[in-house]
Amino acid sequence: MKMNWTKKDLLSLEELSKEEIELILQTAESFKEVSTRDIKKVPALRGKTVVNLFYEPSTRTRVSFEVAAKRLSADVINIATETSSVKKGETLIDTGKNIQALKADIIVMRHNYSGAAAMLARSLEISVVNAGDGWHEHPTQALLDIFTLKEKLGRIAGLKVSIVGDIAHSRVARSNIWGLTKLGAKVTVCAPAMLIPPAIEEMGVYVTSDIDQALRSADAINVLRMQFERDEQNAFPKQLEYFKNFGITAERLQKAKKDIIVMHPGPINRGIEMSSEVADGLNSVILEQVTNGIAVRMAVLFLVAQAAESKNAENIN
Ligand code: CP
Repeated sequence: MKMNWTKKDLLSLEELSKEEIELILQTAESFKEVSTRDIKKVPALRGKTVVNLFYEPSTRTRVSFEVAAKRLSADVINIATETSSVKKGETLIDTGKNIQALKADIIVMRHNYSGAAAMLARSLEISVVNAGDGWHEHPTQALLDIFTLKEKLGRIAGLKVSIVGDIAHSRVARSNIWGLTKLGAKVTVCAPAMLIPPAIEEMGVYVTSDIDQALRSADAINVLRMQFERDEQNAFPKQLEYFKNFGITAERLQKAKKDIIVMHPGPINRGIEMSSEVADGLNSVILEQVTNGIAVRMAVLFLVAQAAESKNAENIN
């Protein structure tokens, strides 16, 4: 029997069960076809309003949520915090309560502080979708990564997936680890020792700083962006040094499985995390990840809106 989605918010993959993750993936599969139609629209969220509230820069996630909401026939409003009353000192909760008072149904938020999305969700009756909070989680990125892997390889259980790069500062890594391990994948994380957070093994991953070992038997690698903007102590390896020791090159890939899947959440630092030859090569699915983000975000918006509707109906009856 198909399970029902009951959560008004999507805040993290840590809080989801395997069945809830699978429901999002199945719902995304059914929405993927919409983007291939001449008229790329279904009426599922007609009359609903989605507000994109981004406190940090974004290209893929913000546009992808906007496209997803529009494909579901929702009205979409984008708030750039640089030109909003946030600049006058308005708190996050006050901003959220005002957006709720303006009768929005869903806030999609990116914020630089871990836990900001959960804090906002606790303060509001309307839905909150986490589009990345600090170093904590980026659930829809991991969902689209997992969706792409499943589409390419037919399964997640038993796959060997290596996540390479700045694990310490990566919300993408944390969400991928939660999602992949819940679905039965074997996850390795690989980075210079200083970019591996303490006790990461407790999340059920194998840890190495040997890139060739991380590549050797992997079915897929997810290569993370080096977040040099977070290097406040100027302690990261220098760019050329990082590329020499951890960069994914065609030469390194020759020692991996011939059909290894190469992923990157973007934006890519070409010549630092990977060479252009790899980023644009036959093993790369980086742009397919971006395309799949639309279906995955359609599924998330649809499910949280459905849960909110069910709660409203319960309150009326
Ligand atoms: N992958 C990702 O979150 O990209 P953006 O920062 O462009 O949204």
